[in-house]
Amino acid sequence: MTMLDETPLLSVAGLSRYYGERVGCRDVSFEVYPGEVLAIVGESGSGKTTLLNCISTRLEPSAGSVSYRMRDGESRDLYRMSEAERRLLMRTDWGFVHQNPADGLRMTVSAGANVGERLMAVGERHYGRIRDTATHWLSRVEIAADRIDDQPRAFSGGMRQRLQIARNLVTGPRLVFMDEPTGGLDVSVQARLLDLLRGLVNDLGLAAIVVTHDLAVARLLSHRMIVMKDGRVVEEGLTDRVLDDPQAPYTQLLVSSILQV
Ligand SMILES: Nc1ncnc2c1ncn2[C@@H]1O[C@H](COP(=O)(O)OP(=O)(O)OP(=O)(O)O)[C@@H](O)[C@H]1O
Ligand SMILES: [Mg+2]
Repeated sequence: MTMLDETPLLSVAGLSRYYGERVGCRDVSFEVYPGEVLAIVGESGSGKTTLLNCISTRLEPSAGSVSYRMRDGESRDLYRMSEAERRLLMRTDWGFVHQNPADGLRMTVSAGANVGERLMAVGERHYGRIRDTATHWLSRVEIAADRIDDQPRAFSGGMRQRLQIARNLVTGPRLVFMDEPTGGLDVSVQARLLDLLRGLVNDLGLAAIVVTHDLAVARLLSHRMIVMKDGRVVEEGLTDRVLDDPQAPYTQLLVSSILQV
């Protein structure tokens, strides 16, 4: 486990989001420390995606606050920043890995351009360096260098997901959000991707927030987890503790029903 800093990277306090009368998530509070991987688990409709979108500024909360410690050490309320500041964070300090790679990639430009584009967005202009860096990141996600000029639509699902990861990591983010990163993949492809993700997160000392309904994914990737039901957090703790010794009746049910599969 990564050494934890004592100041949180992200603090979520009293966060709620309603869709009209319907609850997306309510009164959620938690913290994420540098280098820590937090899993958000729960059944379908429990509010995982709503929560993830609210903390990554993709969806405005109805109440509550989210603060993020910037590179200069100052913690800032994300919803009091300008739109331009938030966009800069998303392009540089953060990554967002979508369940469906097509949502996070440009399907009709080359793999190299998909990775290079994020670099250009942070000011890199030198073609040779962009290409070298793209090649490096493709190899880190196990995509052969001779695929650099291929478009992602010519890639398999697993390769697309690995390309999406490379595109996110190229700017050296400190925090990566992932919504069901292994969702649509075959079991064997999932296992390989999880292995790769785990290695990258460890090597880079990344903090990550991973939404999954799969407890095995949470077990493999996360240090800590929160369990959601009907938009609320019903349990929170170190991943091994929650999975081996669940306290909330709902978590007990979730853990036992997975074991029966
Ligand atoms: N755009 C929306 N408009 C209205 N209600 C919504 C909207 N998005 C989500 N909801 C509702 O908010 C609740 C939480 O949904 P959310 O998508 O966050 O759950 P989830 O845990 O991500 O589910 P899944 O595992 O199926 O992705 C559900 O009751 C859902 O119907
Ligand atoms: Mg979801």
